[in-house]
Amino acid sequence: MATSPQAKYRKDYQAPTHTISDIELFFDLHDNQTLVTAVSHVHQQSESTTLVLDGEGLTLQSVKVNGVDWVDYTQSESSLTLHQLPELFTLTIITQIDPQANTALEGLYKSGGAFCTQCEAEGFRRITYYLDRPDVLAKYTTTITADKTLYPFLLSNGNKLAEGELENGRHWVKWQDPHPKPAYLFALVAGDFDVLRDHFVTGSGRKVDLEIFVDKGNLDRANHAMVSLKNSMRWDEQRFGLEYDLDIYMIVAVDFFNMGAMENKGLNIFNSKFVLANEKTATDMDYLGIESVIGHEYFHNWTGNRVTCRDWFQLSLKEGLTVFRDQEFSSDLGSRAVNRIHNVRIIRGPQFAEDASPMSHPIRPDKVIEMNNFYTLTVYEKGSEVIRMLHTLLGEQDFQKGMKRYISRHDGTAATCEDFVLAMEEASGIDLQQFRLWYSQSGTPLLKISSDYQASSESYTLTVEQTTEPTADQPDKQPLHIPFDIELYQQDGTIVPLQCNGEAVHHVLSVTQPKQIFVFDNVPERPIPSLLREFSAPVKLEYDYTDQELSFLMVHATNEFARWDAGQMLLAKYIRIHVESVQQGKSIELPDAVIDAFRGILLNETLEPAFVAEMLTLPNHNEVSGWYKQVDVDAIAQVLHQFKVILATALVDELSVIYHLLKQEEYSIDHKAIGQRALRNTCLSYLAYTEQGEGLVYRQYRQANNMTDTMAAMSAANAAQLPCRETLMDDFSAQWQHDGLVMDKWFALQGTNPAEDVLLVIKRTMQHPAFSMKNPNRIRSLIGSFLTMNPVRFHAKTGEGYQFAGEILRELNTSNPQVASRLIDPLLKFRLYDQHRQTLMKKELDALKNLDNLANDLFEKLTKALDQ
Ligand code: TRP
Ligand code: ZN
Repeated sequence: MATSPQAKYRKDYQAPTHTISDIELFFDLHDNQTLVTAVSHVHQQSESTTLVLDGEGLTLQSVKVNGVDWVDYTQSESSLTLHQLPELFTLTIITQIDPQANTALEGLYKSGGAFCTQCEAEGFRRITYYLDRPDVLAKYTTTITADKTLYPFLLSNGNKLAEGELENGRHWVKWQDPHPKPAYLFALVAGDFDVLRDHFVTGSGRKVDLEIFVDKGNLDRANHAMVSLKNSMRWDEQRFGLEYDLDIYMIVAVDFFNMGAMENKGLNIFNSKFVLANEKTATDMDYLGIESVIGHEYFHNWTGNRVTCRDWFQLSLKEGLTVFRDQEFSSDLGSRAVNRIHNVRIIRGPQFAEDASPMSHPIRPDKVIEMNNFYTLTVYEKGSEVIRMLHTLLGEQDFQKGMKRYISRHDGTAATCEDFVLAMEEASGIDLQQFRLWYSQSGTPLLKISSDYQASSESYTLTVEQTTEPTADQPDKQPLHIPFDIELYQQDGTIVPLQCNGEAVHHVLSVTQPKQIFVFDNVPERPIPSLLREFSAPVKLEYDYTDQELSFLMVHATNEFARWDAGQMLLAKYIRIHVESVQQGKSIELPDAVIDAFRGILLNETLEPAFVAEMLTLPNHNEVSGWYKQVDVDAIAQVLHQFKVILATALVDELSVIYHLLKQEEYSIDHKAIGQRALRNTCLSYLAYTEQGEGLVYRQYRQANNMTDTMAAMSAANAAQLPCRETLMDDFSAQWQHDGLVMDKWFALQGTNPAEDVLLVIKRTMQHPAFSMKNPNRIRSLIGSFLTMNPVRFHAKTGEGYQFAGEILRELNTSNPQVASRLIDPLLKFRLYDQHRQTLMKKELDALKNLDNLANDLFEKLTKALDQ
């Protein structure tokens, strides 16, 4: 490597020396030689007459200042520096780029037959030299010229101003976006599509055209995205009072995309996975995923676009807040409890694991080498939990007051996380000084609770101790302000009103000290506490519950989340016990009382089926691994497998009855039907481990009239290694091999196949006509699923899993570093495993680190993991 990449620090923020008020862009699109002309109006904002522009992989053709060739400039690998500039000037830069050769999918690239862009975070600098930073906001006018037959649709941000024909079969379209924006929100698309058109009338009566562009032939898969978009627009008006601000909203679905979707102003670009769905091709999970991502990108229009980020360290300002908004959207439209459960599983699983990894960082990072490495579970999901805690502390009304204040104060500008917290503080009058630590402190706090009941004084004491272990990035931790939601129950299920010193207290306690004692009076008997209700803070909880107390809460807790959580704690207790049993060569058993608690849930007809399905779902291998400093991969897998077998065997009659009872004749996609399918398919996932398994799974596959049921049958066959697995897999591939997006489901089952020879199969599958190492979705489905969801085989003692990961990463380091950098995470966690495995994993990391063309993305992660 030539030079070591340089880190940037949050503390070093400096306002830009210049700003750009307007930019006019001209694109002359050609596969290999696209010419980009950028005409910017530049204003000096400081003492400096020198302007440093960002640029990467550009061929510079010419530079003019006020129309005159400018020679006083210097160029480096990543910048263009202009000297001796006037105070106010028009800068004209012509660059040439090669979209066809762009496999990194950043900047301007080709996805299938279409041109498209991805500029967040720092992709615009691959299009032209520019002040590629989010605090430079300009008005964009964009003219696109391209071949008319190949690219009948030429799209960019804002409104269409004009269009025209040229000789030699080319045409042009000119767009203008009236809202100033940073470069990362710029977008361009050129291609041939089918278009689904609709419109939305805003609260104030403006008509907005809605257009969804999909590959030809896919129109019958765009309806759910359109419905979700209209629901998003309505919801943001009703819940947040926020209306859309352009006359047109476009969404383009592309097959080659590094992430989920991108909120470019007025022109969202989506991974086709989050647009395309019909009952034959998409599962219920896909439908819900589309609803949430369409919502997420739409909600960015206010939280991200109208108010953007001052610098990339502030990413959680828009992402944490927008995730919070999309979670609320899904919860208002569907089941709040089920949504909360899914979100909490992500925090307790992969987000806690990230906190414990070499990549640990606060939701507002302090040091970054490659920004793409910080689109993380911490910034997004924990960021959303931090917003949720504010919401819990303030309540909906004051939270909305704070939102109004934040938006009106910062509309049209680039803001910071501090600006947001300040608006919330001012709106509510609540002191958030200590709360601000959530933005700067990384790691997972642990709450240790103990309780004491004094019958004589009818008083109940909760002692709360908080600690946060040091993380890779921060040795010292301080106590945080933790909203701690509790309820106390009497044996008969009634709730004890919370009183301290004779006065009523709120059920959300403010924990602020390292150790804090809460004394509640007028408690008539020793109560059963429901702790950290709604997962009121992203922390680990330790409290010595008895089995009886947990079984009680599973039935009597007033809120569904608390019941689910009690069930999870009961399972967790026995999973831990039996991981040890396995290590000591003892057998695995579950007490009858535990089995009966789950039987009770299964037979309780008053519960929503979707909720019952969640109650019956065991924590996965990754989540359980997160409980340990030294992970015993095989023991955990054995325990989880045995629990499934034990529960399936003990509850076979109940599971079977419910499975048959929930069969639906007609397919529909409403929440009730989704919930019933979820429970029925959860039953199937257990029944697969019983004698009936093979017959039921095979029959369900044959009879399925929707992808949810098809996939449930295949997943059950895969997990339980049923004899019919091969037949079903062959049948599916014969039916869908022409469709990469559908085949992703099949690839993921190949990747997570627990069979011993899975690696051979994966290597063979890489030759499948639907597979391509150029397409991130295919890579993630087949290879990503092997690395993260097939722990036993990935961590095979032979080291073949690690070696395979190494090979793939070396290839992707060159072709698509952003995808490489996401895939490497499991290898970075080598310290969690035994010496033998550690050595093998490190060997692969060392080999990668020695690559002479190592990308910044991998460099940053490798140095963090290896230099500790
Ligand atoms: N802002 C996008 C979102 O939250 C994230 C995103 C999409 C992204 N594509 C990207 C981030 C590419 C970095 C690189 O929806
Ligand atoms: Zn986002």
